[in-house]
Amino acid sequence: MNFELQQKLFKIVQRPAKYKEHPCVIVPEKLEPLPYNRLFFSNNSFHILELGCGWGEFALQWLEKYPQHEYIAMEVKGDRIKKILKKIDKKNIQNLKIIPVNFQWFFKEIIPENAFDLVIINFPDPWPKRRHWKHRLIQESFLEILYKIIRNNGYVYIATDYGPYARKILSIFRKSSLYRPAIPWPNYLRRRPLIFPESKFERITSKYNKPYYMLWKKV
Ligand SMILES: C[S@@+](CC[C@H](N)C(=O)[O-])C[C@H]1O[C@@H](n2cnc3c(N)ncnc32)[C@H](O)[C@@H]1O
Repeated sequence: MNFELQQKLFKIVQRPAKYKEHPCVIVPEKLEPLPYNRLFFSNNSFHILELGCGWGEFALQWLEKYPQHEYIAMEVKGDRIKKILKKIDKKNIQNLKIIPVNFQWFFKEIIPENAFDLVIINFPDPWPKRRHWKHRLIQESFLEILYKIIRNNGYVYIATDYGPYARKILSIFRKSSLYRPAIPWPNYLRRRPLIFPESKFERITSKYNKPYYMLWKKV
């Protein structure tokens, strides 16, 4: 991305909105890694990053089970973020923070290295048309970026209901020397591991398609 475009897109990120004033919303002011103390209360807690958290159902259920974890979620749609914030207020949650940024625009610029123990990617947009594959989140280059932001012994959990994308993700991860499968061959399950809660999209889609679940460990 060239400098001018980057600056233009960053101005969009910073456009004021009422929901962006909420204490659980983190809007980066500069194009540089967010300081740890803006993301987390403690460096010793378990840190989770979710990409495309939608309506936040997975995050909220996770934190109900593990209230001591610290959870950062990236989501671009304001209406979905507002719904999550309502639930955050109702339950008086402080350890779920939302970064309202398009992660295809800014990711490595704003997410600090060596910060997360678990990255969650639930039902990433599948972009089924070949000419749109370049928009898919999981690409070889993204695996390298993820590697840097995950702490030692950290994991990436991915669920998708779209078979061709699942096969592509499997092939990219299996070829990578940066991760090893935490699920034995063929490195996926067709039933959600029970430690992970169900996401809203999953609840809707799994009536029609049986999702694929993967877990990869940083080497
Ligand atoms: C198919 S939905 C899945 C939502 C949620 N993960 C779930 O399973 O219920 C994909 C989500 O990712 C978000 N998303 C897609 N591309 C994004 C991007 N580039 N940056 C931030 N969020 C994105 C969408 O707004 C949407 O909420």
